[in-house]
Amino acid sequence: MAEDIISISIILNGQKTEPRQVPKNMLLLDFLHDEMALTGTKFGCGIGVCRACTVAWQRVPTAEPVPILACSTPVDLVNGQTIRTVEGLADNNQLSKLQTAVLEAFAFQCGYCTPGFLMAGEILLDGLKHAPVERDKVDEAVLGAIGQHICRCTGYVRYLQAMRKVILETPGLVKKSEL
Ligand code: FES
Ligand code: FES
Repeated sequence: MAEDIISISIILNGQKTEPRQVPKNMLLLDFLHDEMALTGTKFGCGIGVCRACTVAWQRVPTAEPVPILACSTPVDLVNGQTIRTVEGLADNNQLSKLQTAVLEAFAFQCGYCTPGFLMAGEILLDGLKHAPVERDKVDEAVLGAIGQHICRCTGYVRYLQAMRKVILETPGLVKKSEL
C-alpha cells in the first residue's frame, strides 16, 4: 500500500544517495544489498548477536561515528543520516591501514566476519584520534570495540594483533607517556 512506502536518501560512504522508494519496514542491511548493491556488509545471525552486519553511523556528519547493526536497524531510522560501510574504507583503491594490517596478519579465513570487525575497528580508530588511549590500555580498548564480534573460523587473536599494530603505529592514537 502506498502509505507503507517511504522515500529514503542517506549519505553513504561520503555520497548522498538518490531518493529510493522502499517499504517502510525495510532493514538497513537489505537497503544496502538490494538498493545500493553493496554486499560487503554481511548477514550472519540476523538477530543482533554476531555483529557481521556492523556499519558506522553518524546522526549528523560532525558526530563521532558509532557502530550500528544493519540487520536490525530499519533504514527509516537513519534516513538523511550518514552511514559508512566496508566499501567506504579504501581511499582511491588504497586499502586503509587497518584493512592492510588485517590482511598482513592473516586474521581471517572465510572472511565473512571481517567487514564487521573492520568497521568496529575503524570506529575505534576514529575515536582514538580525539581521545588517545594509554599504551597499557590498548588491548582493553580493542577488546571493547571487537569483543562482542563472533568469528566462526579463527581465534580472535590476529584481529586483535592487527588492531594493536595500527594503534601503536599511528601517530596520535596513544597518549604520550609522562616522564
Ligand atoms: S547479522 Fe548478526 S548481528 Fe546482524
Ligand atoms: S573468518 Fe570466517 S567467520 Fe570469521
